[in-house]
Amino acid sequence: MTGPAVHSGSISSLGPLLSREGRRDPNPFYAQLHRQGPVCVLTDPATRFDVVVHGYDAVHAALRDPALHVITGEYRDQGGTRWREHLSLRVLADSMFLTEGERHTTARRRFAHAFSARRVAALEPAVDRIVARRLDRLAAAAELAERSSGTAAELAERSSGTAGAGGAPVDLLAEFALPIPSDVVGELLGVPEADRDWFPPRVRAFGAILDLGAGVWRHQKAADTAAAELTAYFADLLAARRADPRDDLVSALVTAEDDPADDAELIANLLTTYNGGFVTTTHLVGNGARLLLDDPAEKARVLADPARLDDFLQEVLRYEPPVHFGTRFAAADTEIAGTPVPEGSRVLVLLGAANRDPSRFTDPDTFDPGRAEGPPLSFGAGVHYCLGAVLSKMEGRIALPALLRRFPDLALAGDPGERTTLMLRGYESLPVRVS
Ligand code: HEM
Repeated sequence: MTGPAVHSGSISSLGPLLSREGRRDPNPFYAQLHRQGPVCVLTDPATRFDVVVHGYDAVHAALRDPALHVITGEYRDQGGTRWREHLSLRVLADSMFLTEGERHTTARRRFAHAFSARRVAALEPAVDRIVARRLDRLAAAAELAERSSGTAAELAERSSGTAGAGGAPVDLLAEFALPIPSDVVGELLGVPEADRDWFPPRVRAFGAILDLGAGVWRHQKAADTAAAELTAYFADLLAARRADPRDDLVSALVTAEDDPADDAELIANLLTTYNGGFVTTTHLVGNGARLLLDDPAEKARVLADPARLDDFLQEVLRYEPPVHFGTRFAAADTEIAGTPVPEGSRVLVLLGAANRDPSRFTDPDTFDPGRAEGPPLSFGAGVHYCLGAVLSKMEGRIALPALLRRFPDLALAGDPGERTTLMLRGYESLPVRVS
């Protein structure tokens, strides 16, 4: 790969990004990186990466560079094979997220047809139903919270039908933004409705090991347990659909006689697709709801105009991306924006920083759905570009207006707390009053 010579900067380590302050708000660190050009070399040999890519064009090019590969199992083995003792890491390594070449293309092709624009459009009535059901549950949770928070006199007043509707706080994340994407992936894959509430805690435990920083090891045991339970569940589901196929993705996968896949590969991809489609979209909905609740004028515009809703969602993805980074290694010598990247280099690709690149987005730290400056890089680019991009935007397009219409007086009811993760970044809870 060749390109115009661009001076890269250098920083010592990722310490400032991985500090409590950096995790709470990584954007000042990103701004510091942008002042050094589109790429920085890391000088501290103890750092897990050699190069950080953060400029918009450089990130786009790096994700499309055939010499830069995801962190495959074979690459990890070069540093020792003990990681293979962990089921969650083996499952990830067997999935399309962490494979390259023919193995990746084949796995992706098997799943891709389920994510075509036509198949996603066909899911719309199911998403409408899922959202309506979760709105009912949110109303019921609010009712329950209000009853249990009232004094005896207030409760008596309410039951006589004269109470005001101040409302006790409920958690919008737990009741709405978390279950909807989980139910939608369940629907897509063909997980029976009765089993769907079983998934969120396990899929979240599995996803906790995906973040950056030494602290992720403390989640390893829980992730392995979750991986074991999810693997057993999907093995049973594959067997059930093989015996009795339905109109769902799992059935299509196990009955594809012209394109047979082994169960370990299918299970790895089902599990990681569930994970990839779940908490990411939760945070699109949660971060989007928070931004709308802070801005009544924007809320009115979004409700009045579907085109504005699309621009709003795109700006949420730019400004508050649920995934801030991807990781790669150089399988051959290459260069990024003029910076040589020798074979074997470990590369941190900062999608979150690319979205705040001032050479691409005017006033990048301002939230502005009217900016019309092209798409952010929140779904990645190149051969690993997100398979669920269309689906997750459809979920946001249905869920947010439905929420605002059902509860016109929806308001924040407390501090949502700090966000501390860079992968699957969003709030732990979002307290709201629905009336
Ligand atoms: C707002 C929501 C979402 C965001 C921000 C997001 C983000 C991403 C990103 C950044 C990648 C590329 C990772 C890399 O290059 O290393 C990716 C890949 C992927 N995503 Fe998403 N995603 C979202 C929703 C979904 C949904 C709803 C699904 C499926 C139900 C999904 C399934 C996948 C899959 C299967 C891949 C792997 C593709 C491959 O490696 O070839 N994602 N996603």
